[in-house]
Amino acid sequence: MFDLKSKIILITGGAGLLGSRMVKTIYKNGGSPIVIDNDQKKIDKLKKSFKNNINSIYFYKVDITKKNQIKNLIDKVHKKFKRIDCLINNAGFNPKLTSKSNKFENFSIKQWDKEIQIGLTGSLLITQEVVKKMINQKNGNIINISSDLGIIAPNQFLYEKNNKKPISYSVVKHGMIGFSKYLATYLAEYNIRSNTLCPGGISNNQPKKFVNKIKKLIPLKRMAEINDYDGIILYLCSDYSSYMTGSTIVCDGGRSSW
Ligand SMILES: NC(=O)c1ccc[n+]([C@@H]2O[C@H](COP(=O)([O-])OP(=O)(O)OC[C@H]3O[C@@H](n4cnc5c(N)ncnc54)[C@H](O)[C@@H]3O)[C@@H](O)[C@H]2O)c1
Repeated sequence: MFDLKSKIILITGGAGLLGSRMVKTIYKNGGSPIVIDNDQKKIDKLKKSFKNNINSIYFYKVDITKKNQIKNLIDKVHKKFKRIDCLINNAGFNPKLTSKSNKFENFSIKQWDKEIQIGLTGSLLITQEVVKKMINQKNGNIINISSDLGIIAPNQFLYEKNNKKPISYSVVKHGMIGFSKYLATYLAEYNIRSNTLCPGGISNNQPKKFVNKIKKLIPLKRMAEINDYDGIILYLCSDYSSYMTGSTIVCDGGRSSW
């Protein structure tokens, strides 16, 4: 149903948990995913998982916070494929549950800058370069990955005393929604769409205590499975969503609905 017909789809953070699932889903449905990630080990692991059956998946080790690296990458990709159909701004800094203190009062500016750089500045830099190509081709599709924490505050009772969800995560994820809406109106005249997906937390071997607590906050009483977002990603990447722009799709088991 969702034939992506060799669409050239760039995925930042494409070797991470959600990114690598998107790569597989897009590939299985006829698209050509272009994996952009700065972690070579994760890229190698993802490549291996395809057991060398890779025809139309491309991997690039690029740091999206570096303007020169991005410019080179986008020029290279465009020269090779002559078009870019879709960009998924997915790369982000996911704070570990066991990381050091994220208490607001002491939250370090170094960490704040790092997370803003990856989540927002990186998305800005790559989108600027991609959009130049999309404007020329008078067609394009941008998908921005936010979070349920892009529309609600974290419930800090979920976290241990010092390991709070950091302020930077809320700011980046709320920011992605504004970023996406701005692009939707700015780029509409060029037939370029921009939408946001707000996924809820994905089950990924989190500590049992955390899982039991978070389940109580979710009407469907479970965290997301990694495949829960396949349909939305296919819909957003495909022409079935051609009249959708500036929208925010929330898929969080109902967590933000109470
Ligand atoms: N995992 C969840 O439960 C969840 C829930 C809601 C939203 N999200 C969002 O989904 C997105 C993906 O999350 P994930 O869980 O897959 O995280 P992840 O950490 O598994 O993947 C993120 C990827 O981004 C890459 N990356 C980081 N900095 C980069 C940079 N400067 N340049 C290029 N690549 C870079 C990392 O190497 C990694 O592969 C994030 O934006 C996250 O906020 C995740």
